[in-house]
Parts: sequence; C-alpha cells; structure tokens
Amino acid sequence: MIAQQSIQEVMDRADIIDVVGQFVRLKKRGANHIANCPFHNEKTPSFYVSGAKGIYKCFGCGKGGNVVTFIQEHEKLTYPEAIKWLASYYNIEVEETEKTPEQKEKQLAEESLRIVNEFASEYFYDYLLNEEEGQTIGGSYFKQRGYTKETIDKFKLGYCPDGYDVFAKAAIEKGYSAELLEKAGLIKQRNAKHYDVYHGRVIFPIQSMTGRVLGFGARILKKTDKAPKYINTPENELYVKSRVLYGMHQSRQTISRNDECFLVEGYTDVISLHQGGVENVVASSGTSLTEGQLRLIGQLTKNLTILYDGDAAGVKAALRGLDLALEQSFNVKLVLLPDGEDPDSFIQKSGASRFHEFVKENKKDVIGFRLDVGLKEVGDDPVQKSKLVNEIAESIGRINKTEDFALQDHYIKLASEKLEVDPSGMVNLVNKYIRERLEQERRQKNRDAEKAPAPQEYVEQPQDVLAPPEEEEQEWELVRVLIEHGEKEYEGYDNVAALIEERIDPDLIEQEMARVVFDSYYAYEIENGKLPTVNFFNTFPEPAMQTKLATLLQTRSDISHNWKDIYGIETLNGEQNYINEVDSALTYFELKKLILVIDEISKRLKTEKEETRYIALMTKYLQLKDAEKEILKKTGTMIFKKNTKKA
Ligand code: UTP
Ligand code: MN
Repeated sequence: MIAQQSIQEVMDRADIIDVVGQFVRLKKRGANHIANCPFHNEKTPSFYVSGAKGIYKCFGCGKGGNVVTFIQEHEKLTYPEAIKWLASYYNIEVEETEKTPEQKEKQLAEESLRIVNEFASEYFYDYLLNEEEGQTIGGSYFKQRGYTKETIDKFKLGYCPDGYDVFAKAAIEKGYSAELLEKAGLIKQRNAKHYDVYHGRVIFPIQSMTGRVLGFGARILKKTDKAPKYINTPENELYVKSRVLYGMHQSRQTISRNDECFLVEGYTDVISLHQGGVENVVASSGTSLTEGQLRLIGQLTKNLTILYDGDAAGVKAALRGLDLALEQSFNVKLVLLPDGEDPDSFIQKSGASRFHEFVKENKKDVIGFRLDVGLKEVGDDPVQKSKLVNEIAESIGRINKTEDFALQDHYIKLASEKLEVDPSGMVNLVNKYIRERLEQERRQKNRDAEKAPAPQEYVEQPQDVLAPPEEEEQEWELVRVLIEHGEKEYEGYDNVAALIEERIDPDLIEQEMARVVFDSYYAYEIENGKLPTVNFFNTFPEPAMQTKLATLLQTRSDISHNWKDIYGIETLNGEQNYINEVDSALTYFELKKLILVIDEISKRLKTEKEETRYIALMTKYLQLKDAEKEILKKTGTMIFKKNTKKA
C-alpha cells in the first residue's frame, strides 16, 4: 500500500498538461489545450485538457478525469500503479505502508521471480540477436515463419542455447540461486548438476497487462515424438495460468480502442495477427477460458470474438468455456476458420483486409453457432434432431439476464426456422425449461431457508430508524456492503464480493463516485489477486470522495450503536447479520432492473403484431411481474421510485 503522504506528493507535483502531452499532441486553445482524443478514433479534436483545473474531458466519447485517471485509462493501470508511474516520471520516491509478514513474504517471492524472469528474458533475446547459434538456429526459424525484426522486438522473442547448461551457468554466475531458477521453471537440478529446461528452443515471454514477464513458452524447433512441442512455466507465485492471457500487454490499448477482443489458441496466432495489423488479440494458450481471464478482458471490452481452427477438436473444447462468458454478460461471437487453417496461417496467406472480411461474413453468435455445428452432426437422424431441439431450447432458456428478453425472442425465431419446427412449439419448450429451472432454484432457496433461521425477525423496527434509503443511498449502501463484507463467506460463492459481481449489473449504479469505487474494488482484485481491505479506500485522492467514503464507512457503526442504546439489540448490524445487509443491497438492484425491463416489455407489447413474439413477450412479462411481486412481498416497506433516470 502506498503511503498517503506519497500520494499527496505525487498529486502536488503532477502537471496534467505535461503528462497528457507525453501521449497526445496538445494544442493551446484559449485557457485550455485540445487534441484528438486518445480514447476513441476521431478526426477533429474534442478532447480538452484544463491545466488550471487539472482535468481532461472528451466531448466525443465522454471520458474524463484527473491526471491519475488519465494514466490509469491510457496505460491500463490500477490506481496504485498509476501513482507509481507518475512518481517514477517525476522522480519521487514512493513510501509504502507496513505489510503483514505473509504479504511481505509473498511479495518477496513474486519480486524475485519477476527479477529472474526479466534477466532470463533479456538473456534469451540477446542470445537470439547477437550470438551465432541464436542467429543461425533461432533466427532462421523465426525468419522461416515470416517474423520481422520489429515483431521479434515487440514480443521480445528469444532463443535458449542448446548446450545443456549454458543458460544455467550464466544465470548462476550473475548471482541467481539455483533454487530460484528452478522455481521459475528455467532450470532443473539433478545430482548436483543443472540443466536448461528450454535448451535449443525458441522463447515466447508471457507478459502481464503492464508488461512484466510472468513466465515463458518455449517451442521446440523440430518435430519429435518424445518432447512436447511447448514447455511452459509451471505455476508459481508469479505465474498463475488462469489469470494470464498471452498478448495482453501488446494488445491492451487496441482492444480498448476497438472495443473488441479476438481470442485465439496459440502464441504464434497472436504474433502473426499483430504482424498482419490485427492488434487486438490474445491467446488462452490451449485451455478453455477461466473466470480470471474473462475479468482481464472485461476491463477492456465486453465484446469477445473467438476464432476457431477448422478442426472439430478445437471447437468442442472451446464451446466449454462459453457459458462462463455468457453468464458474465460478454457479447460472444464465434468464427470458424476454413478447414486446415489457423489464424496464423490464414492471415499470412490472405492478409488483414481479407481477414476482417472473413470475420465479418462468418461471425456467429453462440446459439447460432451451436445450431450450425449441431445441424451438421445430426444429419437426417430424427432422434438426434429431437435431442438437438431440446438442447437448443434449454440454451435459449438459460439466457437469464432479465434485460436479455429480446435476445431470447430472437433466438426462438432463429432456432425454429433452422430446425424447422413450429415457432409456438419452440416457445412452449423454452418456457418449459425456464419453468423447470425456476422451480429448481425455488426448491434450492427453500432448502436454504430451512437451514438458516430467517434473519428477518430483527427487522421490525420503528420507521425513523429503518426509513427506506433514497436511491442514491442505496447505491452507496451497496458499495459499503462490498467494502465491509466483500471477503466474508456466502453460500454457493467464493465470498460476498463474488456474489455481488455476478448479480449486479454495474450500469445500474448511476452515481459516478459510487461507480468508481465499485469498479476500483474489482480492478484491485484483478491486479493483486486478492480483495482490497478498507484501507485501500483511504487512498482516493479526490477530497469529495475521501469525505464520502469516510462518512460511509462510519455511519453504519454509528447507527448500530444507536440501536444498541435505544433498543438493546446487539446483533442488528453486528457480524452475524451481514448476510441480511448483503441480501437487501442486492434486492434493491434486482428490483430496479426488473422494473426497467418490465417497463420496456410493456412498451413493446403495445406495438407487437406478430403472434409468436407476442406470446413470448407476454410469457416473459407475466414471469417478471411474478418475480416483482415476490420481491415486494419479501421487502414489504421498500419504497421505490418508479421512474429512474434510465427508463
Ligand atoms: P498449437 O499446437 O496450435 O501451437 O497449440 P501454435 O501456437 O499454433 O504453434 P505453431 O503455429 O504450431 O508453431 C496452441 C497453444 O497450446 C499450447 C500453447 O500455448 C500453444 O500456443 N500448447 C500446445 C502447449 O502449451 N503445449 C504443447 O505441447 C502444445
Ligand atoms: Mn499454429
């Protein structure tokens, strides 16, 4: 954690004109400076920087903030990283506050792995470019694959010499311990001898979003039956496979600017696409997508386009990771490349414009893709076909974000056309699966309720104490619950934070400040692999934010003291009752979303002429109304403004 006084020092010194000027060409215009916005593509400048106020604002895309948010946004850094960036730019020494012994130990382990990786990466890169063996063997391999010097530099590709311990010797001579080198996966020790794990292989350094070398992929040059094609870094404190995507560092800005991320399978696919001019692409390195990887992408865009090789094995593997992406509200599209091609070979043969054309013509959404793949497999077999119809109906029923009702409607139409079944039959089938799912969830809830005594008992309190908070306060209440209880247990989830992340659509948080705190909570988790503590929230530099957070984190304990004094209730907001607080914070947002969607559906019901769609809409409408009634029954007193700003 960075000490508050260091943050202050950085804020005092940082000059927004100077800092922004490092990235865009600023022109003076009156009291302000203007430029073409670095966050979206434009030809005439709508990006304003005010030196006096210390802020920037783009009137084209709406992005704005202070010098720290600029660095965060532009360099894709977290708040503490941006502070450090600025500190090093201004040569300010950053003081860190005390850490626990475990934190220190973990940080030390990470730090030493990072340093040894940095050394190894430099060594392999240098060996490739400047040593004879590197040039003749590694260099010709990359040349034969069509990689330019520029590409080699961009991805810091390298070569590990073929003697069995050339690298190990050099590293040990430099002072790196054999234990550390082994932990980093670079060497193996046997009988007091050291062996280079990657000897005779070309090296692909795997970097974090901010460019740190976390590990390596090392490719063999010749085909052999015995040795694996790639050797990858084993999991260690620094390299956690499920939180890494190859190419993230090189692609992050273009992903964010284009608002789309391509996902491919291999290192070489990423590199060839970059060289061909497609610079928004990452690789999951041969595994199906994990939640951590999706979160990395989700920071930059919600539009994920997955490119599959033409062979069937890849398709099956990839379809498995998809449900996760859908549940997290990614807009997932799929592209199947022609038989025998992977993205690497395709772009090398056909070039970037043909690539984009092909992607555009062949982009499918998930259910459309499943339909096509399924139809191919089924052929004329009626039993198989009926199985497919059921599978697809279930998938459609699973689109469970309430705001996606229009999508459900769309798929019902698409599926009934492609599968040649009667649309109203399809509606019924989908509804059957929805009912089954809801029934199952209801039974689960009842079972849970039996286990835990209803905490509602406490809630019968005089109105002036439990007066329903205003909309703004509800948003802050969610933030408070997240900060105070994020780490605590919640059945069925890793913790409360995971529950909130899954259930709350951040777009429903309308207040800028609350939203910033909410987002930075999860950004911190992604970057640090753990949840932020309350202290983290003392580091927001804006005075207004500081005041707000201070009051927020203070109020509840005041209220509960009050309660204790007045009613003698100890546990009302004590530790045991946090589940109550979490649930009611969630309920508010669920209700808010429901009301927005119900409004939207009733509008559409008035104009819909086509019968099947009308039935689908009406079914959905009744379902949502039921859900609304349920929630209102539970919460009873909750007052809700019907016309929210968004509706
Ligand atoms: P591919 O076999 O498609 O490799 O595996 P590639 O990257 O396209 O390499 P070229 O083009 O054949 O040279 C896809 C990804 O699966 C992982 C790697 O991350 C690879 O990039 N993989 C594959 C391994 O980790 N180990 C292996 O032995 C093979
Ligand atoms: Mn390949």
